[in-house]
Amino acid sequence: MSKSVTITGAAGQIGYQLAFRIASGQLLGADEKINLNLLEITPALDALKGVAMELEDCAFETLGEISISDDPNEAFKNSDFAFLVGAKPRGPGMERSDLLQENAKIFSAQGKAINENASSDIKVLVVGNPANTNALIAMSNAPDIDQNAFTAMMRLDHNRALAQLASKLGCHSTEISNMTIWGNHSTTQYPDISNLRVTGENISNRLDQAWVKDDFIPRVQNRGAEIIKARGLSSAASAASAAIDHMRDWSLGTKENDWVSMAIPSDGSYEISKGIIYSFPVICENGSYSIVQNLEINEFSKECMEISEKELLEEKAAIEHLL
Ligand code: NAD
Ligand code: LMR
Repeated sequence: MSKSVTITGAAGQIGYQLAFRIASGQLLGADEKINLNLLEITPALDALKGVAMELEDCAFETLGEISISDDPNEAFKNSDFAFLVGAKPRGPGMERSDLLQENAKIFSAQGKAINENASSDIKVLVVGNPANTNALIAMSNAPDIDQNAFTAMMRLDHNRALAQLASKLGCHSTEISNMTIWGNHSTTQYPDISNLRVTGENISNRLDQAWVKDDFIPRVQNRGAEIIKARGLSSAASAASAAIDHMRDWSLGTKENDWVSMAIPSDGSYEISKGIIYSFPVICENGSYSIVQNLEINEFSKECMEISEKELLEEKAAIEHLL
């Protein structure tokens, strides 16, 4: 059996990383053949041809067929996994929400194409910014597909938080578990260490609260801008890596006694409004995710979670005509 994976914006920075890692088996393992459907806008088709040629030249064991197209209907045909990356990135001094009107149209068209063409149990990950609201637009334009198939990427923020904590605690990031990012993939996101464990032991009370509030939280919230300042371009390899982590865990399951952060359609858990794509702590099993329930939420956390919820409701109001 082989799986069809669609990558939009496949000739862009993130796409160029993602296609090779997926083709080499890093998404579903060495036993699963992958057919790649790569989508670009017409002016980028020549560049995309070059990407396809390089993919062929890798002679990956796990790679089946490659198709390239500028037609979303073709690119999403029988798609099992869709990475919606193609969108404009922000530059220095911009917020991700500044991209909302320009990128929103892309996601309504692609939502429709997914609805008409994709496998009925497709998994969709939106990476293009502003990712949460773009996922909402795609979901709303695909009424025949299960709404829970539409997710947005918070895993880069989750991984960034693990890296900062590992450096502070002097341990490896794999020893840290139960980290949560709540809310929007924006500066209002809330990196929450309340349940943090190191090698299984809860250590949230042992972290200096001044460091958490004044250093750690803003660092994670602003890491995207920090990368843009350093590179002159937005994050790409780390974003592709997080996208694979997100889809792999969703398909193959999360680690025992741990969870991951995924932006998913809110079901009202933790009193977050329904009708937005909000990041929650989730456990994945048998190809589905479920929100971790009954976590204790203190006043500070509640306030931070509401700020991000409010921003997502405002973003939604700004693109209501596309829903
Ligand atoms: P890029 O400009 O290098 O590549 C984007 C590609 O998308 C381009 O090749 C462009 O031709 C293509 N494209 C544009 N419109 C398209 C359409 N309608 N259909 C198909 N392809 C289309 O940008 P990048 O650095 O790869 O970033 C892509 C997006 O991902 C940006 O919006 C960026 O802000 C976002 N991003 C999100 C995260 C996250 O954590 N969610 C992380 C990093 C980047
Ligand atoms: C990131 O977090 O690196 C991306 O969303 C790109 C950006 O604009 O910050």
